[in-house]
Amino acid sequence: MPQQDSRTGTALVVVAHHRTDSLTAHTARRAAARLEAAGYRIDMLDLHAEGFDPRMNASDQPDWGDREKPYSDEVHAHMRRLLDADVVVAVFPVYWQSVPAILKGWIDRVWNYGFAYGRSKPRLAGKRILWLGLAGATGDDPLVKGMRAVLETGLSEGIAYYCGFSHSTVGLLTDAEERPQSVDAEGNLRVGEAVTDAEREAQYADLDRRAREFVEGLAADAPATA
Ligand SMILES: Cc1cc2nc3c(=O)[nH]c(=O)nc-3n(C[C@H](O)[C@H](O)[C@H](O)COP(=O)(O)O)c2cc1C
Repeated sequence: MPQQDSRTGTALVVVAHHRTDSLTAHTARRAAARLEAAGYRIDMLDLHAEGFDPRMNASDQPDWGDREKPYSDEVHAHMRRLLDADVVVAVFPVYWQSVPAILKGWIDRVWNYGFAYGRSKPRLAGKRILWLGLAGATGDDPLVKGMRAVLETGLSEGIAYYCGFSHSTVGLLTDAEERPQSVDAEGNLRVGEAVTDAEREAQYADLDRRAREFVEGLAADAPATA
């Protein structure tokens, strides 16, 4: 077990994918390993494996007149994990230029009124987050610029900074498909030939490298706590 130093703490790694053999899950495991090597204690939260229910319900619906409303036990347990984290890394496939429903539901239910927002001193204040989104689009697709902007506005501005995080980065990892996808001028989805063997290995290695740079950026940014 690596020693924690004064610059590290706990990293909550949230993975939102239904297959453990997915590129997303692989990327989450590598991010966790990197952060552990940097001295963080890892809390791995696999939303599908833990059976998280993303559907809002009456117990967890905010009551705008009562910011002390006791939410469900399940949500309280997740709030505890979020509170215990110094940094959060959410790893997900980009779905419709956004996060998958299970991750959105985790935010909807857990980042709740009176806990994540609605207080003069937000409880998540000062935490740092990296949103690592894997996208099927190729890096040279003109759609990517808008996709990155939409993700940054929604995730960083709309959620993380609104909840008092001191730092939020969207790490958009394009070229996540073995058959490259792009949209042509007429709006047709173009699916290219599958890359194989050495080319595929190089594609994986490049995606790993880009993900590692985002994770190292998060770790390097750690403020000294002592
Ligand atoms: C419902 C759905 C929506 C998607 N939307 C997008 C999108 O908006 N932009 C994009 O680049 N890729 C999109 N994709 C492709 C996924 O991002 C890609 O398949 C995934 O990142 C591959 O990672 P995985 O192998 O871990 O699933 C979408 C895929 C699905 C299934």
